[in-house]
Amino acid sequence: MEQPQLQIIGVLHGDITTLTDAPKNFDISERVGTLEIFPAYQAGLEGIVAGQTIVVLFWLHQSSRDILKVYPRGDRSRGLRGVFATRSPVRPNPIAISELKVLAIDGNRLEVAGLDILDGTPIIDIKKKLSL
Ligand SMILES: C[S@@+](CC[C@H](N)C(=O)[O-])C[C@H]1O[C@@H](n2cnc3c(N)ncnc32)[C@H](O)[C@@H]1O
Repeated sequence: MEQPQLQIIGVLHGDITTLTDAPKNFDISERVGTLEIFPAYQAGLEGIVAGQTIVVLFWLHQSSRDILKVYPRGDRSRGLRGVFATRSPVRPNPIAISELKVLAIDGNRLEVAGLDILDGTPIIDIKKKLSL
C-alpha cells in the first residue's frame, strides 16, 4: 500500500513548553497561542473569521508511537484502555484534534484560545467545526 505523505502546513507558537504544564485537553483550557501558517498555505485561511471555532489537527512530535494501552488522563484508578478508546497523545499516528476559538487574524497568523499543545508543534490541518 502506498504510504500517505503529510504536508506540515504550519507551526504553533505558545507558552506551553513542558508536557507537565499542558492542560489535559482543549475543553478545559483557556491557554492562548498563535498558529503560524506557512505562506504556501495562507490562501487556505480565506473565510476564517475572528470569533469562530476551528478544528486544528496537530502532529504531536514528542509522542510515543509504540504504546497501545494507557490510563485515561493518567488516572490509574480507571484501569488500562486501548489508545483508540481514548484521546491520548500516545498512538501509532500521534495526531491531536483540538477545537480552538479564533481571537484574531493577522495575515498568516491566527491567535487562538483553548490550547493543550506544546510550543513548536507542527500543524497538519485546519477544518471548520460542524454546527450541529
Ligand atoms: C490528551 S492530548 C489531546 C490532544 C487533542 N486535544 C485531542 O483530543 O486529540 C493533550 C496532551 O498531549 C500532550 N502533548 C501536547 N503537545 C504534544 C507534543 N507536541 N508531543 C507530545 N505530546 C504532546 C500533552 O500532555 C497534552 O496534555
